Amino acid sequence: MHSDLKKILISQKDIEEKCKELGNIISLDYKDKNLVVIGLLKGCVPFISDLVKHISIPLRMDYMSVSSYHGGTASTGHVRVNKDLDSSVNGCDVLIAEDIVDTGKTLKKVIEMLSVKGAKSIKVVTLLDKPEGRVVELVPDYVGFEIPKEFVVGYGLDYNEYYRNIPYIGVLKEEVYTK
Ligand code: IMP
Repeated sequence: MHSDLKKILISQKDIEEKCKELGNIISLDYKDKNLVVIGLLKGCVPFISDLVKHISIPLRMDYMSVSSYHGGTASTGHVRVNKDLDSSVNGCDVLIAEDIVDTGKTLKKVIEMLSVKGAKSIKVVTLLDKPEGRVVELVPDYVGFEIPKEFVVGYGLDYNEYYRNIPYIGVLKEEVYTK
């Protein structure tokens, strides 16, 4: 285990098995649809990469990078688009791939944006869900693991941009925050 972690929450093996399980379900659900899997950078990278290997139907992939406004405007849920999609999603069945859903604000805004772009359907697959953190109405369509309201890192998830490369999900030691 990484020396900055106090515990492993979800092992590499469990993540691998979950990606396979989700990929198989999505392959069936999107059979004969016009699937575009959209990853939200940067946290989605390990998850989207492992997930699509288990989706057996034709699909396109695209990415968006958004950042949430914090502070005074946080309650409005405004997000800034740092990188928009490269291709059109008009008439497409969009599946957004997220690392974790917490308050749900970011995703809610992204769903609204994709809807304006003319997506035919929009669903969400997330590796992790923290339902206790939710402040807007948002229920992900496919969830890998429900976790408690605890800050986690690894497998794409960062603390100050570090720890994204850890191949499992873990909880940081308290002293790491106060360094
Ligand atoms: P929200 O659902 O709009 O609150 O934002 C979700 C985003 O917050 C995720 O895509 C992550 O970037 C970040 N986030 C939420 N919880 C965690 C966590 O436990 N560890 C690392 N990042 C997190």
